[in-house]
Amino acid sequence: MSNSQATAFPLHQDSQYYGQLSQHAHIITIWIPLVDEDEVNGCLYVLPGSHQWELIDSARDENQNMRSFIDVEERGIPIPWPMEVGEMLILSNMTFHGSKVNQSEAVRWGIDIRYCRSRSTHTTTELEQAGEDFMYEKLIRTAGCIPMVVCGQGEK
Ligand SMILES: [Fe+2]
Repeated sequence: MSNSQATAFPLHQDSQYYGQLSQHAHIITIWIPLVDEDEVNGCLYVLPGSHQWELIDSARDENQNMRSFIDVEERGIPIPWPMEVGEMLILSNMTFHGSKVNQSEAVRWGIDIRYCRSRSTHTTTELEQAGEDFMYEKLIRTAGCIPMVVCGQGEK
């Protein structure tokens, strides 16, 4: 797969994949590299400040990757985010990020964890609640069961 376009991910907001209502939910992605990452092996690029943007309309391309209907690089410059094993990167569901082609001979392994607040754990606006309910139902539909629940000091 070295130098394959299949190793690249166009700049996207994770909510473009989740669905429109998810833009109102507070979801984080935690990226944990299992190998050191740099611009040669396709490290992430992040577009600073884009977590404050609206959800940009998009559609899947022939590789099933989301493509925005606007050129987001006209609104900001994505910066490479090299990482070493032992570090992690936390992104919001609205932060534009992506990766370029892995030009190395090795696989760029990593773990990608998603977290969304569950119901009844906090005070929300109606829109936030609608977004978080949407994600909860989507996870149940996708996984076929209740997603993993993290317990804090209060209720689940
Ligand atoms: Fe993503």
